[in-house]
Amino acid sequence: GFASLKGADHIDMLFVHPSAVGQGVARMLCEALEKIAGGRGAKSLTVDASDNAAEFFQKRGYVGKQRNTVTVNGEWLANTTMQKTLGDGTASGVST
Ligand SMILES: CC(C)(COP(=O)(O)OP(=O)(O)OC[C@H]1O[C@@H](n2cnc3c(N)ncnc32)[C@H](O)[C@@H]1OP(=O)(O)O)[C@@H](O)C(=O)NCCC(=O)NCCS
Repeated sequence: GFASLKGADHIDMLFVHPSAVGQGVARMLCEALEKIAGGRGAKSLTVDASDNAAEFFQKRGYVGKQRNTVTVNGEWLANTTMQKTLGDGTASGVST
């Protein structure tokens, strides 16, 4: 799996290979991004979550803010901008 943070406060990519799903890989990657974001001074973190991943982010405390449509190679796709407020522990990079 891989993940990337854009700037201080936006999850740009999160992907886990189908043969490795359901083993906590995305949870681990997302926790790492939240710590990096906190280390970069972010107070909250956003993601444009695919419909497939929205429930994963919801379980981690992300709240839906806005529904979007985007075109990729002529195909219309929908996603949801979700946001999580980072706590003091996360912002300092300390697990609580
Ligand atoms: C969505 C995705 C990142 C999840 O990866 P994963 O490694 O299987 O997730 P984890 O094993 O870390 O799951 C953590 C928790 O989220 C839940 N979860 C994971 N994917 C879920 C889904 N699609 N729907 C509902 N719950 C989900 C798990 O059941 C687990 O719950 P638990 O903590 O109660 O046990 C992965 O399926 C993926 O890469 N999908 C395709 C690409 C994609 O949609 N990326 C997101 C772009 S924004």
